Amino acid sequence: MNVINDEALTAVRSLEDCRALDANDPLRGLREQFELPEGVIYLDGNSLGVMPRATPERLQVVTREEWGQGLIRSWNAAGWFELPARVGDKIARLIGAGAGEVVATDSTSINLFKVLSAALEMQREDAPARRVIVSERDNFPTDLYIAQGLIRERGYELCLIDDPAELPQALDAEAAVLMLTHVNYRTGAMHDMAAVTRAAHAVGVKVVWDLAHSAGAVPVDLVGAAADFAIGCGYKYLNGGPGAPAFVWAHPRHVDRFRQPLSGWWGHASPFEFTPDYRPAAGISRYLCGTQSVLGLAALDCGVDTLLAAEPLGGVAALRAKSLALTGLFARLVDERCAGHGLAVVSPRESALRGSQVCLSHAEGAYAMVQALIARGVIGDFRAGDSARPDILRFGFAPAYLGFADVWNAVEHLLQVLEKGEWRRPEFNGRNAVT
Ligand SMILES: Cc1ncc(COP(=O)(O)O)c(C=O)c1O
Repeated sequence: MNVINDEALTAVRSLEDCRALDANDPLRGLREQFELPEGVIYLDGNSLGVMPRATPERLQVVTREEWGQGLIRSWNAAGWFELPARVGDKIARLIGAGAGEVVATDSTSINLFKVLSAALEMQREDAPARRVIVSERDNFPTDLYIAQGLIRERGYELCLIDDPAELPQALDAEAAVLMLTHVNYRTGAMHDMAAVTRAAHAVGVKVVWDLAHSAGAVPVDLVGAAADFAIGCGYKYLNGGPGAPAFVWAHPRHVDRFRQPLSGWWGHASPFEFTPDYRPAAGISRYLCGTQSVLGLAALDCGVDTLLAAEPLGGVAALRAKSLALTGLFARLVDERCAGHGLAVVSPRESALRGSQVCLSHAEGAYAMVQALIARGVIGDFRAGDSARPDILRFGFAPAYLGFADVWNAVEHLLQVLEKGEWRRPEFNGRNAVT
């Protein structure tokens, strides 16, 4: 669905042009759902989403009424017990999964441990000679760390590729599981989920997708792609708040056949029978472990609602069209207006290959430039490079609360930081713990 007039987008030459685009944007009303601080252009929704206006009020109700007055009765009376499934059903609508196939629970790292383990168990039964997990060296580190922990415990191997072009070679007769993040956290490059899953299945490899930078930002069709497992984050584009519960999905063809290893009582078929033996629940509920964070789930529920509010306006397809327009415009304006200052656009130019972020590289000043921008109210973040990869200024574009004037103004601030050499100031060059 195309909600943006392409001609008007290509013709943008000024802040006024951007304001005109905003005035005609059918999604512009979604912004009202958020508490955006005055004077801030927030380009970090890929790291921590903005707080929905509904969240503080909901948390007041959950604390003062449900907890304060209802006390333990609220597990039943306020529906606390069903929250992981209820919020999971809402998330399912954003990722091409069915009702009853997703639960919101635990962290992304923990959910990855569960599904990776289940996928390995599946291969142990079906193809025991397959002993390798394949992933990308540039995958988000927690994904690699979780895989490293598992292989150490269970005697598997981890094979890391440096380029997606190496995939066909890596998916050999020993490969058991392919573990990929759909949209790369550093570059914003996006895999073709359907094509990669098909290629892996064709050679007997199961696929686990990390949707941390996809859910709520780009279209995902897990069932259509016939993926095996997926996990993702609640505090990024889903706006669930710091440390929000994550989510987990297993394809219905696998869900009852395999177990996840964290066999806590919430994943039991009948937790309140208090039997001594573990019997996994039917369906995705077996991916729960212990008592859930009700406050976290309530806040996540509000966050997910802000995206479902786009459904009458075209849903994820409309959000995607706007996101591509925002990221495409940002990349073009950086090229045109900031030329000659050593910045390069690292994210793919081609729409089909780009998630909802634009990353820029700079040889010496990426960290300081991000700090100088933050001092001006333009909040992005920095990701350190190494000998093989450049330092990165990372800008996420959440289409539910950003507009085209934000893009123009962000680039204008960046230009000022560069032209005035602001980033060279000492106060922008000392590293904070969280970058
Ligand atoms: C791709 C990816 N996976 C996982 C995580 C984080 O996992 P957790 O929420 O367990 O810290 C991130 C965080 O930025 C991420 O980018």
